[in-house]
Amino acid sequence: MKPKIGVLGSGKGSNLAAVCRKIETGELDAEIGLVISDVKDAGILQLARDQGVPAMWVDPGSQKGGRLSDAAIMEITGQLKNAGVELVVLAGFMKIVRGELLETFSGRMVNIHPSLLPKYKGLAAWKQALEAGESEAGCTVHFVAAGVDSGEIIEQARVPIFDGDTADTVHARIQQQEHELYSRVIGEVLRRLRAGN
Ligand code: GRF
Repeated sequence: MKPKIGVLGSGKGSNLAAVCRKIETGELDAEIGLVISDVKDAGILQLARDQGVPAMWVDPGSQKGGRLSDAAIMEITGQLKNAGVELVVLAGFMKIVRGELLETFSGRMVNIHPSLLPKYKGLAAWKQALEAGESEAGCTVHFVAAGVDSGEIIEQARVPIFDGDTADTVHARIQQQEHELYSRVIGEVLRRLRAGN
């Protein structure tokens, strides 16, 4: 049986689309068990449905500052478990993962962040790099731990920043790399999990 991944996202879902393509071509040996979003009309949910993948919205509750309600944490954890998910993949999930969800999938949850961590955590990281005058930016896949954009770094991809770049051009260049890097690392982590290390 192919290992199942669960994807959590809040946005347009271009990383999910890339993962689906790599599954289709056989480059990634996995199956998407479930896609969950905290945003009812997120592109990622539509994309999942178009791909015939189970997709659901979970009410994040009304807490501020990226916090999920306790009920949302329980619901997401339960749904991922029921779907038989081995690895949780965060793809533009704008909520902080904590509590039962983090504990249940400890060592089995990865995130992709659009910077060369540990530099530029948080929002619009590509813009932070550009405004700081960096000559390169990139993306990082890391295990998820308590704390925003923290946790063991698994792999990074670098892109140059050119004179005349805008936040949009840098972001687009990073996303191209994300779409290659994420599936490759997901495959690697799944192999390691299956091998028991
Ligand atoms: C990506 O840039 C990722 O690095 C960040 O959120 C964005 C998600 O984009 N964590 P998409 O929804 O996969 O297009």
